[in-house]
Amino acid sequence: MTARTFATIDDLQAGLLDASYLADRGLASVLFLALKLEKPLLLEGEAGVGKTEAAKAMARVLPARLIRLQCYEGLDVAHAVYEWNYSRQLLHIRAAQEGTVSEEELFGPEFLIRRPLLEAIETDEPVVLLIDEIDRADDEFEAFLLEVLSDFQITVPEIGTIQAKRRPVVILTSNRTRELHDALKRRALFHWIDHPSLEREVEIVRLRVPGVPERLALQAAAFVQGLRRLDLEKPPGVAETIDWAQALAALGSHELDPDLVESTLGSVLKHHEDLQAVRDAALADLLEEARVAAG
Ligand SMILES: Nc1ncnc2c1ncn2[C@@H]1O[C@H](COP(=O)(O)OP(=O)(O)OP(=O)(O)O)[C@@H](O)[C@H]1O
Ligand SMILES: [Mg+2]
Repeated sequence: MTARTFATIDDLQAGLLDASYLADRGLASVLFLALKLEKPLLLEGEAGVGKTEAAKAMARVLPARLIRLQCYEGLDVAHAVYEWNYSRQLLHIRAAQEGTVSEEELFGPEFLIRRPLLEAIETDEPVVLLIDEIDRADDEFEAFLLEVLSDFQITVPEIGTIQAKRRPVVILTSNRTRELHDALKRRALFHWIDHPSLEREVEIVRLRVPGVPERLALQAAAFVQGLRRLDLEKPPGVAETIDWAQALAALGSHELDPDLVESTLGSVLKHHEDLQAVRDAALADLLEEARVAAG
């Protein structure tokens, strides 16, 4: 399988749009460069701005196999790279009962359980390697990752060094719960994804919720944009706007009204305190603003 190549940033941007992802010029440029320069790309931004989806969309458009490493505190090599299949080794020893089993035999490739990083390095297929929420992993793991991403190789002491046959497209995402090391940033291209402008958010909603009434999409997006200006625990991302528009459209609505907003606001705000604050103070004003914005 060969992946598509893109001659220009515009080509890639159009391809992503076909794959239902609306990338602005800045994001499309840096994704284009990641392909051209074969460099990892670090995407940072608030929750729900489309970081993870950018990697998925790249996999759809290339096309390439998406291999995802979800990071969390305590993530270690055994879960990210490989581990030995002990039960299989044990079975092998039992089966060989009479004969002797050499160490070399037991620590061969067939007894290796491949985790996402090794899988991405070893495979012949085009791959998008998504290292999601790297800020949740520990420092130690980040340092290890640095080596992998510099040389695109992994060493298994018992087997040797495995070099990537072709470099995977690597996309790292971070919510910035902690600052990443400069060394990692130096090796990667970087892009900050902001909340979209009203116009873009409406476009994204129309892309993701086909058939949504135009006016409803506009009002919902404008309302959410208003929510983001408040001082909330968890400002809603694009994901919430899409969910809300979907819910509103499913109810057969064509525009927002106070009761409708009241009864569906739970798809937008997931914090009890946020919901309470908006219901108590801001709802009517935001609704009025959204109606004005929608003309
Ligand atoms: N530019 C976009 N074009 C199309 N869909 C988008 C875009 N941005 C966001 N979305 C949609 O919004 C939802 C949330 O996006 P995604 O999960 O990628 O956010 P995220 O930045 O990874 O959030 P988190 O930090 O919470 O993981 C997805 O369903 C995605 O389809
Ligand atoms: Mg994500």
